[in-house]
Amino acid sequence: MSEDIRKRAAELREALHRHNYLYYVLDEPEISDAEYDRLMQELIALETAHPELIEPDSPTQRVGALPLEKFETVAHTIPMLSLENAFGKEEVLAFDQRVRRFLNRDWPLVYTAEPKMDGVAVELVYENGRLVEASTRGDGYTGELITLNIRTIKMVPLVLLDTVSVTIPSRLEVRGEVFIPVEAFKQLNKERLDKDEPAFANPRNAAAGSLRQLDSRITATRPLDIFCYGVGMVTDVEFASHWEILQSLKALGFRVNPHIKARATIEEILVYYKDLLDRRHEFPYEMDGVVIKVDDLALQRKLGEKSRSPRWALAYKFPATQETTRVVKIDVQVGRTGALTPVAHLEPVSVGGVTVSRATLHNEDEIKKKDIRMGDTVLIQRAGDVIPEVIKVITTKRTGVEQPFRMPATCPVCGAKVVRLEQEAVSRCVNANCPAQVKERIKHFASKGAFDIDGMGDKLVGQMVDKGLVKSYADLFFLDKATTAGLERMGEKSAQNLMDAMAKSKQISLARFVYALGIRHVGEHIAHVLARTFESLKALMAATAEELVAVDEIGPQVSQSVRAFFENPENQRNIERMVEAGVTLETEEGATKETLAGKTFVLTGALDSMMRSQAKARIEALGGKVSSSVSRKTAYVVAGKDPGSKLDKAKEIGIKILDEKEFIEMTRTK
Ligand code: IVH
Repeated sequence: MSEDIRKRAAELREALHRHNYLYYVLDEPEISDAEYDRLMQELIALETAHPELIEPDSPTQRVGALPLEKFETVAHTIPMLSLENAFGKEEVLAFDQRVRRFLNRDWPLVYTAEPKMDGVAVELVYENGRLVEASTRGDGYTGELITLNIRTIKMVPLVLLDTVSVTIPSRLEVRGEVFIPVEAFKQLNKERLDKDEPAFANPRNAAAGSLRQLDSRITATRPLDIFCYGVGMVTDVEFASHWEILQSLKALGFRVNPHIKARATIEEILVYYKDLLDRRHEFPYEMDGVVIKVDDLALQRKLGEKSRSPRWALAYKFPATQETTRVVKIDVQVGRTGALTPVAHLEPVSVGGVTVSRATLHNEDEIKKKDIRMGDTVLIQRAGDVIPEVIKVITTKRTGVEQPFRMPATCPVCGAKVVRLEQEAVSRCVNANCPAQVKERIKHFASKGAFDIDGMGDKLVGQMVDKGLVKSYADLFFLDKATTAGLERMGEKSAQNLMDAMAKSKQISLARFVYALGIRHVGEHIAHVLARTFESLKALMAATAEELVAVDEIGPQVSQSVRAFFENPENQRNIERMVEAGVTLETEEGATKETLAGKTFVLTGALDSMMRSQAKARIEALGGKVSSSVSRKTAYVVAGKDPGSKLDKAKEIGIKILDEKEFIEMTRTK
């Protein structure tokens, strides 16, 4: 083998390590996914042709080949302790007092605090800059060796970054928490259910289960991530503070949570806690509190530890998001398409600071599966803004009087027949004019992705339907101001606002219009597909079933549903009336493959609706490019939350700045 090949392989390994780091750790890729794949393919080809080139920490070697028989165990050099918990401000202040008394100090102490990740604790061992071992916390003294599984996590460096600021220790033990982000968790569960595999109860269980796979090829398919928050034994380097440890870990290529409160007083830490608690649902991962640590390592050593936990740290936990309560009764809610959703009415209980009195039970099969009965004591969970869910029944609390649930044979709202089709999990009310269905259809019609009528809230829609003012969404456009002003909790001003909002909404894209109609199986995405393909409402209404199924992504189910909708004379009449009322369909020019050709974007700050890598993919799909620094060649700077100096620079040299909404609008593909 020539020296050139050896050199090229080394170059590729280095480049791939670097781009892996830029993409997965910093979320600031410099090259496109396609380019990354090309480099990877080139290295794989070289290694296949010359197997002697393969090194254990080559970027190609993340996924191991053969499953293990069992996990070996390993003793931690320094025990992995747990933390003392605090649940209130008083306990935190008492902790501060205790620490200061121990140290004999009557002036304020400096703390560093960070999110407490709700995942699985691991230790990663690096020798001379190479990952040699990874283990679970186990009982704190010995853990299981899960090196092969940890290697599959792209956010874990196989080789440390060589930096001027930190010497690479001959041995470095890094501690961190492996977790699965919430959206990825939902997706993972969806895929599992599709494959008839049991869903994971929560992201933490999913992370733990994924790390405990004997076959690392399975682990490699799981969306695991990591934040590192500390060290075990370290040779050759002396750190002075916890903050310095975190900075060094970052410099060496580890993922460190960016939302850290560095070097602050205990009062500032309390403010930080409150802020994180309020905003915890905005984060893409689950946290269960804040870990407060004395920053100075000399003081940490003085403080030492008690039997299981250090004296210098405290976990200030968020209020629990799981609680037990009793199911008072189960009734059903009727949705837009007539679907009957069973709802559990609960004895009110505070979960994570919010009073919960209802939980969705999804459908009949779900109730059967979990065997939830009226009168049962149940464990409920509230995650993010989602509707609380019943996790399981505490069967030991059963007394024998609990009543199983039965789906009603008639609609509880209109009394019409309820049917359940064989291939479906849901039961439906067959009456399309059922007031519950009408209300839901109108709410959907006025919702954000549809006509987006500001001020058309649930209560207002309820009144309008109950009073017989609107029977279909077309009626909305024939409401007059006087009638509207006469409704409860309305007045001149709010009626005028509503009229204005409705007038404004009449200019609408075909895609939104189609979505607003509430055709079964036609969500926002399919509505876009239909609008893009048929280009006009007339053409869509005239499309035959064959023409519809010929469209990519449209199957027989959607096709049938669309046909049935437009063949229905009542629906035709409603559409005509909307047009009479002045609803006009904009012929919308969606973005295409060339829309952003030659345009360079710079991303700064965090976007609410997507990761940086997704934003990058969106730009690249439309022919644009993403660069990491602002120059006169930059066409747009997309500024998210907490933008950095790039925004200042853009303003300085007069580059067009887009906020998240404008960016999404610009890159929308019809
Ligand atoms: S420090 C001696 N920092 O919480 C200090 N722990 O109850 C030990 N955890 O087993 C840990 N996020 O799994 C620390 N930012 C963080 C953490 C964190 C999550 C977990 C860790 C540990 C448990 C302690």
